[in-house]
Amino acid sequence: MYNIILKKKRNIELSTEEIYKVIEGYTRGDIPDYQMSALLMAICFNGMSERETFDLTMAMAYSGDMLKLERIHNITADKHSTGGVGDKTSLIVAPIAAANGVSMAKMSGKGLGHTGGTIDKLDSIPGFRTELSEEEFIDCVNSCGMAIISQSGELAPADKKMYALRDVTATVDSIPLIASSIMSKKLAAGAKIIVLDVKCGSGAFMKNFEDAKKLAETMIEIGKRGDRKTYALISDMDQPLGDYVGNRLEVYEAVKILHGEGTEDLMDACLDLSAMILIGAGKAGDIESGRTIAKKTIESGEALRVFKNFIAAQGGDNTFADNPEILIKPTNKIEVKAGKTGYITSIDTEKIGLASMYLGGGRQKKEDVIDPDVGLVVHRKKGSFVNAGETLVTLFSKPLSNTEQALECISEAYKISPEMPSEDEASKKHTLAYLGVEDPGVDR
Ligand code: URA
Repeated sequence: MYNIILKKKRNIELSTEEIYKVIEGYTRGDIPDYQMSALLMAICFNGMSERETFDLTMAMAYSGDMLKLERIHNITADKHSTGGVGDKTSLIVAPIAAANGVSMAKMSGKGLGHTGGTIDKLDSIPGFRTELSEEEFIDCVNSCGMAIISQSGELAPADKKMYALRDVTATVDSIPLIASSIMSKKLAAGAKIIVLDVKCGSGAFMKNFEDAKKLAETMIEIGKRGDRKTYALISDMDQPLGDYVGNRLEVYEAVKILHGEGTEDLMDACLDLSAMILIGAGKAGDIESGRTIAKKTIESGEALRVFKNFIAAQGGDNTFADNPEILIKPTNKIEVKAGKTGYITSIDTEKIGLASMYLGGGRQKKEDVIDPDVGLVVHRKKGSFVNAGETLVTLFSKPLSNTEQALECISEAYKISPEMPSEDEASKKHTLAYLGVEDPGVDR
């Protein structure tokens, strides 16, 4: 291990054998954390070649179970978001794909810090089971076209151990390490089509477009080497996606979209992601036609029908799907008003996510218990004009919420200026780039 660390420190490429030796040794517990930390830091500084990054990904994937989805009848797809605020797209995109004959066998994570997790949103549905056996998981996909379960500890255990170490050694923000971490789990989860939503902006890991593009390209290359159809879009996380942040509130917003209602940015994001899956499955030729199919699937009520079946198949009470208002539970509502008149020039999205976390909708530490009912609604987005005293955000709080901290986050998050935003900024779409498919351009 000493020689491998030295080699990486001197920026010399590691061989496939060396990479497997490190990952196998670390997973078994033969390599101590201090040596692994040194290697991770050397990777942060010197990076990895495409071949090294792929080897690292495969070594991590093979450290645990490799799911075989052969028993699933249709072509399988998975989607992954690099983490955002208000991102409930999986709850909408999976039913759209399933209604079009693409099986979504999806494993998701819990939220941590300012970002939410799909599993927490699903856990807010009474009776819904996010833990199924492999048998139940596959049966569920075959019966209703989709299933979403909590990622098992047996999937890429090397990544689990390494991620915990990276978290405390300031080695998270490395493109080869992030790409291999995400893709090891995606490759182990077995789907043939992988669609990646790489977020970019103040609420994301990648704060600028160039880094987000590099991360997306690195993951596409890994996917291709791993014999999966892999596509990515880069999307804006300079403001929350949709208007609702918080677990049950986000399920509410997802159901509204499945009814054909709801905010434009969220609908747009879901149509783009669905289009990529449909292209991968050979059911659409380009983004435009994929979006049209996805839109029709919502309008016909087919996506909602699949969603209802999926909730019931995993043990949940699906009555809310026809009457989403019952998801909004009584909480204390606090309106946060604009302090001055002007244009909203930026929203620090991380702070919006943290506000929801302080209310009790997210976790500061892994062990924290979350409250499904709390969260917030964003009434005003970037570029809009507001008068002093107009409501920007409504907080949904409970007695245990840290409302003071949440209020502080919201007031720090909004920047209001007398200057009108530039045309470029004002016309910015949610999807900033399409990778792996032809870019339809901004005027679609
Ligand atoms: N998500 C992951 O799964 N891994 C990373 O390294 C970063 C985000």
